[in-house]
Amino acid sequence: MRETVGWGVDGEAAVLRRLRLERRDLRPDDIAIRVDYCGVCHTDVHSLDAHAGGLLVPGHEFTGVVTEAGSEVTRFAAGDPVAVGNIVDSCGECVMCEAGQENFCREFPTLTYGGTDRRDGSTTAGAYAREYVVRERFAYRLPAGLDPAGAAPLLCAGITVWEPLHSLGVGPGTRVAVAGLGGLGHLAVKFAVALGAGTTVISRSAGKAEDARKLGARDVVVSTDPDQLAAARDRFDVVVDTISAPHDLGPYLGLVAMDGTLSQVGHLGPVTVRTMDLLVGRKKLTSAGSGGVPATAAMLAFCAEHGVTADVEVLPSARVNEAFDRLRRNDVRYRFVLDLADLARVTTPA
Ligand SMILES: NC(=O)c1ccc[n+]([C@@H]2O[C@H](COP(=O)([O-])OP(=O)(O)OC[C@H]3O[C@@H](n4cnc5c(N)ncnc54)[C@H](OP(=O)(O)O)[C@@H]3O)[C@@H](O)[C@H]2O)c1
Ligand SMILES: [Zn+2]
Ligand SMILES: [Zn+2]
Repeated sequence: MRETVGWGVDGEAAVLRRLRLERRDLRPDDIAIRVDYCGVCHTDVHSLDAHAGGLLVPGHEFTGVVTEAGSEVTRFAAGDPVAVGNIVDSCGECVMCEAGQENFCREFPTLTYGGTDRRDGSTTAGAYAREYVVRERFAYRLPAGLDPAGAAPLLCAGITVWEPLHSLGVGPGTRVAVAGLGGLGHLAVKFAVALGAGTTVISRSAGKAEDARKLGARDVVVSTDPDQLAAARDRFDVVVDTISAPHDLGPYLGLVAMDGTLSQVGHLGPVTVRTMDLLVGRKKLTSAGSGGVPATAAMLAFCAEHGVTADVEVLPSARVNEAFDRLRRNDVRYRFVLDLADLARVTTPA
């Protein structure tokens, strides 16, 4: 095994601590990556809050540099800049994998942390760490010109909103609304704008209106104001809901135009839907999560072409618990990214 150091909990704990971690020795199709930047996704906070014991090392959107390549690796060599998201393996044989939708693998894709390794059954530990070892198939070359810190969040937040926008055919003429202006939401706005769609932000936070316009949104609907919601009724072909807390979908379905779609990609728990909210206007409700290998590569190419990266606040990784606290309070514009360089000097666990 190889040794590295990262941030996580071993057992039950409310805050992350510095831990000594093991990574597997390289298999023939593995690469080792020095993790430079890892985004802080709200899913990381949900995971810590729900964690009931055992080892948890969050982190599933990161960029870094290849340090070593296994004997059968063909696409990467030491020194290459790379990016990895929240899926690190899949069966490769089912209809979903064959369709390039490894994120829907029938055997369930192996998640970057908290997943079960397909070959040795171990539990995966995430990228709040100085090193990660991954199958080369699930690593992406980081396009030149993309800032590595700003690009890290593309690999979870980005692809999660890219897939629905893309599969719903968003482009010039589409009326798009994005609910919740956080990590996922601000990237959804940037993508929708870059795809040529007229884009509106739906937010509880009136104070984000100016930011929304800077991101390219034409309009802002303050969701706590019933008059503004009523005025926006039946207005959007596509509503992407990135809200991180359980909520009633009714008001958001109300904003969808006839035959339009609400894609709920934020909080992934049970929802209650009133059939009449769908019936009136023949509206559709869908969801999505992460993306397959081809879509992720296409999203990165699109970002390179259009200069899209996340708006990030970079913190030394030792401030990870502060990032979690602020994310819980909705105090981020619009994604925290941990700079893991401060782990390079650490030789003993805290
Ligand atoms: N489908 C997937 O595969 C996938 C992938 C990644 C993340 N997720 C999930 O997506 C959600 C968003 O993640 P994120 O990292 O973007 O989180 P985030 O940065 O915290 O953004 C969430 C936004 O939701 C809005 N919000 C929060 N609480 C709310 C409430 N009670 N009512 C209404 N709006 C509320 C806020 O926007 P305003 O201030 O504008 O109202 C907030 O900025 C999380 O639940 C995460 O677990 C899913
Ligand atoms: Zn995530
Ligand atoms: Zn599969």
